[in-house]
Amino acid sequence: MAYQNLTSEIKENILYVTINREKALNALNKDTLAELADVIAFANKTEQVRGVILTGAGEKAFVAGADIKEFSDYNGKQGEDLAKGGHDLVFNAIENSSKPFIAAINGFALGGGLELAMACHMRIASDQAKLGLPEVTLGLIPGYGGTQRLTQLVGKGKAIEMITTANMVTASEAEKIGLVNYVVPQADLISKAEEIMNAIKQRAPLAISAAIKSVVAAVKNSDGYATEIEEFGKCFETADFKEGVTAFIEKRKANFSGK
Ligand code: CAA
Repeated sequence: MAYQNLTSEIKENILYVTINREKALNALNKDTLAELADVIAFANKTEQVRGVILTGAGEKAFVAGADIKEFSDYNGKQGEDLAKGGHDLVFNAIENSSKPFIAAINGFALGGGLELAMACHMRIASDQAKLGLPEVTLGLIPGYGGTQRLTQLVGKGKAIEMITTANMVTASEAEKIGLVNYVVPQADLISKAEEIMNAIKQRAPLAISAAIKSVVAAVKNSDGYATEIEEFGKCFETADFKEGVTAFIEKRKANFSGK
């Protein structure tokens, strides 16, 4: 499939996927999510692919979140469907993949962008990267698994702090709290991911798949995701959501009413 919003190529058994909407800071619109779903399925079924390195185009952003402009007039049901479709086709599909995925975080990883990185099995960050879940600034909560995966990675206290303050963390703070595996200079980002992937390539492919499946199973026994989907949908019914996205689009500070 020829992609409009991604580039992908296989080199030495590694599939390199780059989200390529640089002008919108690689924000995840529906088309990009559909293309990601397609490339994930391709990685799973293609024997030649031993692992995937996922990054964003340019030096500014990995992914700055779900595309705010696309969902700015959604109601609750549409919000819930947006979250559910994303979980099923992309975020859970990556986590459940039989091949290892490494996120190479080359800049902002915000909202759905950090959620995408957290769905990957490992994360390497450039020392320029900034990470956060700023959805509450829009009157929303994370809807692509963020409330669950951030809690799994950094623990409840830090997850609640990051989600409720909407504050970003630097790459080195992210490394300290276990959110990323390594921090490297921007220029070394892909080579660090390749170093890990090349080690994995020396090992038994079926054992790698079994190991990933088993580790992922350790953090899956809850209905937290269902709760998140429902709550995400409800946010779309609030006045604060309308105000948050309008303020973003109008490039001004939001004035929330708590309604
Ligand atoms: N959706 C749509 N467009 C986005 C975007 C997003 N998430 N993030 C950035 N853009 C667009 C901007 O609108 C802008 O477009 P125009 O040039 O057409 O105005 C362009 O990308 C460049 O962005 P900025 O001018 O804002 O760049 P900046 O350097 O001033 O700021 C930033 C960078 C801090 C990352 C800022 O762009 C920002 O705050 N982005 C939004 C981050 C965010 O809130 N993400 C969460 C989205 S909601 C979500 O992800 C829900 C979920 O969990 C499912």
